[in-house]
Amino acid sequence: MPGTRGLEEVVAAQTAISDIDGKLGKLWYVGYSIDDLARHSTFEEVTYLVHHLRLPTQIELEELLEQMVNDREAADFVADLMPTLAKQTSPMSMLRTGVSAASAYDPDGWDQSPEANYRKAIRIISLLPTLIAYYDRHRRGLDPVVPNPKLPHAANFLYMLIGEEPSQEMADAMDTAFIAYVDHTMNASTFCARVVASTLSDMHSSVVAAIAALKGPLHGGANEQAMRMLEEIGEPERADGFVKDLFARKERIMGFGHRVYKTEDPRATILRTLARELGEHTGDTKWFDISQRVEQVVMDEKGLYPNVDFYMAAVLHSLGLATDLFTPMFAAGRAAGWTAHIREQYSDNRLIRPESEYIGPRDQRWVPIEEREEPEDAPGEEAVS
Ligand SMILES: CC(C)(COP(=O)(O)OP(=O)(O)OC[C@H]1O[C@@H](n2cnc3c(N)ncnc32)[C@H](O)[C@@H]1OP(=O)(O)O)[C@@H](O)C(=O)NCCC(=O)NCCS
Repeated sequence: MPGTRGLEEVVAAQTAISDIDGKLGKLWYVGYSIDDLARHSTFEEVTYLVHHLRLPTQIELEELLEQMVNDREAADFVADLMPTLAKQTSPMSMLRTGVSAASAYDPDGWDQSPEANYRKAIRIISLLPTLIAYYDRHRRGLDPVVPNPKLPHAANFLYMLIGEEPSQEMADAMDTAFIAYVDHTMNASTFCARVVASTLSDMHSSVVAAIAALKGPLHGGANEQAMRMLEEIGEPERADGFVKDLFARKERIMGFGHRVYKTEDPRATILRTLARELGEHTGDTKWFDISQRVEQVVMDEKGLYPNVDFYMAAVLHSLGLATDLFTPMFAAGRAAGWTAHIREQYSDNRLIRPESEYIGPRDQRWVPIEEREEPEDAPGEEAVS
């Protein structure tokens, strides 16, 4: 049977973590709708949910909060890498390197037991915001701010970036943004994580693979590109001309379209409201206004809906994040989902090893190098260079 390009509609795993109805525009984590969780839950509670497949009791939540607070600090070796990484590399490459480096100092070492893997998962989830904040402060010539054990995950992230405690509105918005990114079925980075886990490679290596996949502009990089577009547009009145020009050049608008949703991405609905509220809170609605105008033109011209990354751009900008930290923040949220999927893969593992469909020449005969002819236009050369 011929393959499906991009594995569209291929079911690569069974999961109890999240589910999407692309026609209805619905997303559930363990059967709870994203609207419900965004409105009532916290990132920590959702982390518990995707790992244990049920909501925690009060005591269980408190235990997890304590564990996450204790796991926020980076090992000296990892923290010491930050000044160099801040000078030399992009934030997503830093994150990939940071997680890789952190594996060398994980207290559970190469223990692959389910208990050790759960502890490693929580450590990775807790550490990512610290890595991002340390990196950002180093490159801005500022001292890193050590994590504040009194603050929840999202508020502490803003605190470590900005150096002061955020308002409740800002902390809540950051929390909602993290929840929106936690999981999304078999997206490219989660698939990568599960492929690596299926070889029985370790938790950190599987997360490193996921970060590498998320880095690309067709996946996690879209929120950053969406913000750069909003900045280039600059004013709501310029949105029409800008978008029409892009379409005339057959370029893609980042933050629009989706492989699964054929209607509005439910996370876009949540983030649209959040972007407006945050704009009102900070007294600067310009980014929301431009976003709304772009959304209208894209809908009129192409009938495309915004995905999670589009209004996330205005949200993260209003929260004071540098634009190139948007995708790392996505990774920090998705780490909860990745690690849950990795543990799910381990719990009922079979090596993920699909087929390919061979389309090259057959029955070739090897000839000595001096007898080989100059190639004409070798097919596919451009694609592999
Ligand atoms: C997400 C995405 C990769 C899904 O891609 P896909 O399922 O492979 O869909 P396709 O690339 O086949 O697109 C289908 C059609 O819609 C168009 N389209 C899809 N997304 C588009 C976009 N963002 N801007 C312009 N046109 C778009 C394609 O050009 C194509 O049109 P055609 O049939 O006339 O050639 C794609 O929508 C995209 O590139 N979006 C921008 C990046 C982004 O926001 N990524 C974050 C995803 S959460």
